[in-house]
Amino acid sequence: MKSINLHLSLFVLLTLLLASCKADKKQFTVSSPDNANAIEFSLTDSGQPMYVVKHKDKTIIDTSLMSFDFKDLPSLKDNLKIIGSSTGSVDETWQMPWGEQLDVRNNYNELVVNLEEQSESKRLLNIHFKVYNDGIGFRYEFPEQPNMGEILITDENTEFKLTGDHKVWWIPGDWDIYEHLYNETKFSEIDAISKRNHPNLSATYIPENAVNTPVTMKTDDGLYLSFHEADLTNYAGMTLKVDNANLDMVSELVGSDRLGGKAKVTVPFNTPWRTIQIAEKPGDLIESKLIINLNDPNAIGDVSYFTPMKYVGIWWEMHIGKSTWDMEGGQDMNTATTGKAGSSRHGATTENAKKYIDFAAANGIKGLLVEGWNTGWDKWISNDREGVFDFMTPYADYDFDAVMAYAKEKGVEVIMHHETSAAPLTYEKQMDQAYDFMKANGINSVKTGYVGKIIPQGEYHHGQWMVNHYQKVIEEAAKKKIAVNAHEPIKDTGKRRTYPNEISREGMRGQEFNAWATDGGNPPNHLPTVAFTRMLGGPFDFTPGVFNIKFDDYKKSNQVNTTLAQQLALYVVIYSPIEMACDLPEHYMVDGKVHPAFQFITDVGVDWQQSQVLDGEVGDFVVMARQERGTGNWFVGGITDENARDQHIMFDFLDEGKTYHATIYKDGPNAHWNDNPQDYAIEHMDVTKDSVLDIHMAPGGGFAISIMQD
Ligand code: NOJ
Ligand code: CA
Repeated sequence: MKSINLHLSLFVLLTLLLASCKADKKQFTVSSPDNANAIEFSLTDSGQPMYVVKHKDKTIIDTSLMSFDFKDLPSLKDNLKIIGSSTGSVDETWQMPWGEQLDVRNNYNELVVNLEEQSESKRLLNIHFKVYNDGIGFRYEFPEQPNMGEILITDENTEFKLTGDHKVWWIPGDWDIYEHLYNETKFSEIDAISKRNHPNLSATYIPENAVNTPVTMKTDDGLYLSFHEADLTNYAGMTLKVDNANLDMVSELVGSDRLGGKAKVTVPFNTPWRTIQIAEKPGDLIESKLIINLNDPNAIGDVSYFTPMKYVGIWWEMHIGKSTWDMEGGQDMNTATTGKAGSSRHGATTENAKKYIDFAAANGIKGLLVEGWNTGWDKWISNDREGVFDFMTPYADYDFDAVMAYAKEKGVEVIMHHETSAAPLTYEKQMDQAYDFMKANGINSVKTGYVGKIIPQGEYHHGQWMVNHYQKVIEEAAKKKIAVNAHEPIKDTGKRRTYPNEISREGMRGQEFNAWATDGGNPPNHLPTVAFTRMLGGPFDFTPGVFNIKFDDYKKSNQVNTTLAQQLALYVVIYSPIEMACDLPEHYMVDGKVHPAFQFITDVGVDWQQSQVLDGEVGDFVVMARQERGTGNWFVGGITDENARDQHIMFDFLDEGKTYHATIYKDGPNAHWNDNPQDYAIEHMDVTKDSVLDIHMAPGGGFAISIMQD
């Protein structure tokens, strides 16, 4: 970590050819450096911007239109004229301070078209296109101009006209929460409305048949497309409205009832990038760095105050109902099973925190999260949530100073927890003081949460007002050298490149749903889908590591729907620079000793030199290999859906001439996610670049391999 700032200029080859304005030119084409992808831009007969996207000889986005609607202004749509254009190429390599890989190549060809409305007000609009080998992106720029100042955008109409009834992995275009299960249907069968009223979602609003991004598709020819956005700043999140019959999508920005529109901006202004990742192999979607490349370079400098790490926490025990967040005892997640409603079973006690610290210190885990340490939890899901939480005051049975001192003595870093209960104004009032309090106690990172409907009413988690709140948190935290892991966040659009203190986030159904969801939890195909959808946005704090898969002592009606070996594989497959070992310390113990499979969690890296997808198919399975920064050790993880699979692994990613010691953690002979999830086996072997291995994955199973150098 230490030294690594952004080294922008490794191989900067910037050739910006400012083509002179060719007013008579009507059609423009810009292709990727390898010529595989191309965008064609032109105007329709009525003077409306339109574009087409091609991959090799195939059209993948057919003639698609662009326009904007405003409050109190005519739409910007027809009668536009091309008054200029420029092209350029960039080939540079920059470095991630932490990440899935160290070096990132940013290589694209660019086109900017300058448009002017043929009207009295002569409004101006520029459209920027970037074409990469792994996809395309474009954004709108409203340049400074006399007749546009502050504008209220009521609709952005960016069309994506598909060329087939693709297979789609989608979640509904909910304005408040992404924590829906993925659905796999034909495009013509997408029905987001049917996903309204989920019993386990605390805030949900699905106004129409739209999907959230990233949304991933497979064409009949076997091409993979994923639609998303990059650099979502001072704007509303984009959902995609679905026209089932015409195989068409149009951007539908998340609104604000208070604003009476979608986004209020002051010109000059850029929208986020609208992106399409294009891949011939599904794994290439995961390896693509398109989204992060479309963000600006590091704006905050050194972030070595944040160390990628694994952490334990007082967390899962509340979700399964062993204990409560509040000291008062009213917030029980498990009254039905324990019959202990109203009893105080506060999880965040001094003694309990010390127990977790002892476990972490003994097993090479560097971090500790404590939820429920501060006052306010008795009212956190009430109707009146403003002013409820206090981010400085511990509960009476939690001796904050004593826990901090004990953690320090044992070499464990405490992670702060700030649940805002979706009352961002209360949070903004206390933020400054709360961050100073953290720093004064040597705490460098915070997990935030936004459970519930946003206060004030009329705002949504994914609208412009909240986008700006999440941004404010990141910027304030950066000033104080604090890293942020947001739950119930705005989706990740690659802004960690600009603000690398934005370390991870949720924004998808995490492990917690397995503890209490009444719909059966996350099915075995959940994570093999997430890897090719949500994960394309960026790091996901999924919180793996459940060993007591059925937790029958606490809840008979719920379980984790994977095998134990798959829980290990998730440390490799689901990328995050912080990875929780989320189960209770006692669940990691067998006969007074640490469970033999925990060794993988102790060993596995969290910061990577490089990452490769070895095999996979969206929604079915994925096998990944990652090399740890610093040590050069490799880790391989494979996960499968409800179907068993035999996986052939070639170790040709290893260094030439080296012998490594591999430990293989795999499903036992009788493993099955439901019938026998804790059946596992451990094997050892020496491997070289030429080694091969066949591994069986049980239904809902997986495997993990640590490959260490001697
Ligand atoms: C929702 C978060 O996703 C979860 O991890 C956390 O435990 C609760 N909020 C309480 O903050
Ligand atoms: Ca959540």
